[in-house]
Amino acid sequence: MKIAVSGKGGVGKSTIASILALMKAELGDRVLALDADPDANLASSLGISHAEQRKIVTISQQIGLIEERTGAKVGQYGQVFRLNPEVSDVADHYAYKHRGVSLLILGAVKAGGSGCACPENTFIRALVNDLVLFKSDALIMDMEAGIEHLGRATSQGVDVMLVVLEPGQRSVDCALLVERMSREIGIRKVMFVANKITGDADRDFLRSSLPKSEIIAFLPWTDDLKKADRDGVSPYDCLDGATRSQYTEIVKRLEA
Ligand SMILES: Nc1ncnc2c1ncn2[C@@H]1O[C@H](COP(=O)(O)OP(=O)(O)OP(=O)(O)O)[C@@H](O)[C@H]1O
Ligand SMILES: [Mg+2]
Repeated sequence: MKIAVSGKGGVGKSTIASILALMKAELGDRVLALDADPDANLASSLGISHAEQRKIVTISQQIGLIEERTGAKVGQYGQVFRLNPEVSDVADHYAYKHRGVSLLILGAVKAGGSGCACPENTFIRALVNDLVLFKSDALIMDMEAGIEHLGRATSQGVDVMLVVLEPGQRSVDCALLVERMSREIGIRKVMFVANKITGDADRDFLRSSLPKSEIIAFLPWTDDLKKADRDGVSPYDCLDGATRSQYTEIVKRLEA
């Protein structure tokens, strides 16, 4: 199963992507987690320490190394990964391993105004399309906030676009745009998850804002997750029993 997690800035994409990745890994799946956000923070959501994060070689740096070594311009993905790679190939050669999750980080644009991440985006689009998954494999992509990545169609090859929203009009507007643009690039399954819910008024607001779409889960606002972020702890380790059950249900719905 290939899933992209998207939505407006700060709604909880990285939190949710990291929880799904760790949960699926704990269930025994081979999980490739791909941080496609140039402002990467999936590693810290997975609970990887800052010292460890510094050791991770990003896709952007890997592409840079290959260009340096071969003198070739890596616009083409075949120069880095073999065609139709399997999760284990990619994980073995390019990913950072953490608690059963193999993490790939886009990296890219290092300095403000330093340009476009074109080779990286070409590469990710091709990887997501060509990656061969077996039954118990999962690819989970943490997308950049907003809709710009949909113009680049880096997530075109996913099975599900999981759109995260919070109880606010701006997040709803963004979620609806993400839904429309996902369909335009050919993603057939678009699912919504509501996050940071504090009560019935939030649920009612979101249900009435998306009357035609089913929201598959309403995840609660919790101080524990705020604290997890402050303390550099993975949100997965801070879930209460009821919220964990909600995530189990989300996994079932994604796989259905
Ligand atoms: N259910 C929740 N309850 C309380 N805080 C939450 C919840 N979900 C996420 N957060 C907090 O909200 C902040 C943003 O979360 P996160 O980084 O996952 O969002 P994001 O959508 O990935 O953001 P960005 O657009 O910057 O990538 C973090 O501090 C996180 O701990
Ligand atoms: Mg994020």
